[in-house]
Amino acid sequence: MNTPLDADGARISRRKLRHLDVCADPAMPVEDPRGAGFDNLHLVHECLPEADADAIDTCCEFLGYTCRLPLLISCMTGGTGDGSPFNVILARLAQERGLPLGLGSMRILFHDQGAIPDFAMRRYAPDVPLLANIGAAQLEGLESGRLVEMARRLEVDALVVHLNPGQEIVQPGGDRDFRGVSDAIRRLCDHGAMPVIVKETGHGIRPRRVRELLASGVAWVDLAGAGGTDWLQVESCRGQQLESGESFAGGIASDCVAWGLQTAVILAALAADGDNEGDIPGWLVSRRPLPVIASGGVKSGLDIARAIALGAGLAGMALPFVRAHAAGGEAALERLVLTIGESLRSVMFLCGARNLAGLRRVGLMAGSEFVTAVRQLAAVDRG
Ligand SMILES: Cc1cc2nc3c(=O)[nH]c(=O)nc-3n(C[C@H](O)[C@H](O)[C@H](O)COP(=O)(O)O)c2cc1C
Repeated sequence: MNTPLDADGARISRRKLRHLDVCADPAMPVEDPRGAGFDNLHLVHECLPEADADAIDTCCEFLGYTCRLPLLISCMTGGTGDGSPFNVILARLAQERGLPLGLGSMRILFHDQGAIPDFAMRRYAPDVPLLANIGAAQLEGLESGRLVEMARRLEVDALVVHLNPGQEIVQPGGDRDFRGVSDAIRRLCDHGAMPVIVKETGHGIRPRRVRELLASGVAWVDLAGAGGTDWLQVESCRGQQLESGESFAGGIASDCVAWGLQTAVILAALAADGDNEGDIPGWLVSRRPLPVIASGGVKSGLDIARAIALGAGLAGMALPFVRAHAAGGEAALERLVLTIGESLRSVMFLCGARNLAGLRRVGLMAGSEFVTAVRQLAAVDRG
């Protein structure tokens, strides 16, 4: 049954559209100036690659599918009130290139079921993993059953819960009460109807929380660390064009440029955990793939290679897709994915890695500043 678009629904829809506009504009300073930390990591060159460059296998397994690249198109949009052409474009790209696709928050569907076509992407992407998305702060007010029922209507393979306290704290009318979120996530996992993925939105998840989430039944954790889109800054940019009646806690955003845990630092701290009991040398070899998605500031095939070498199951990107589409439409999106694939394959060849398992055995060297940051995070986190 369709419910009419209520005032909250209309507000959410206008806000989503503004977020997309702000992020699409390269003049907007929405990115963390530190970067994600991948530039500090150097894969070991192999002068005798026992591999055929044309037979490098970049496939990865994710949610029962074989994806052609270890690259998730991160959760972004839907319910913008403009027919959501962007989701359809991304869904077609995902299908054509064999990539998993995350959909933006489906919160609006609990205000306006008329927006369902914006999220019902299965017919455009029948053969790839599709992920529905909801904010952690909304979990408390929604029964697990209702959420799962909506996700089933969208024919998705998993439900993503996003953690975005940074965004909520500055967003006018944002959800400021995050109590009970861990329990709500656990209840959703216990419901058992579909895999649950938990992600941040650009400030990262500390290693201890990653381990706790996985132990509580979460299937995958998407780090969505700092280094790329920074929602304090997105809201700050949007804050310059607020609607009347909205107020923006702008001071926080200007105090907190470069907030959060950089993606590569979290991943390295997770990779170093266990066997060597937190002792992080100047080189790293991931021993086993983690059910972890490395996203937040991932920019290239080389970054993806570094993330996989550090133990990520796959990587994810949001902003590069928004910017490519804004600059050159579907052709630019296509070029972006082709370039990433070519770059990843070249890097793997130069490391002598025939597939992702081989890439995880290559090893990385890291500068002392990076190693110090990883050591500090591991120590503070254990604290
Ligand atoms: C325009 C835009 C909209 C987004 N909307 C959502 C969302 O609805 N739900 C969500 O979990 N994350 C959302 N994100 C966050 C991304 O999924 C991702 O975690 C974050 O942008 C960091 O990745 P990046 O540095 O590659 O952009 C959005 C990002 C962008 C750029």
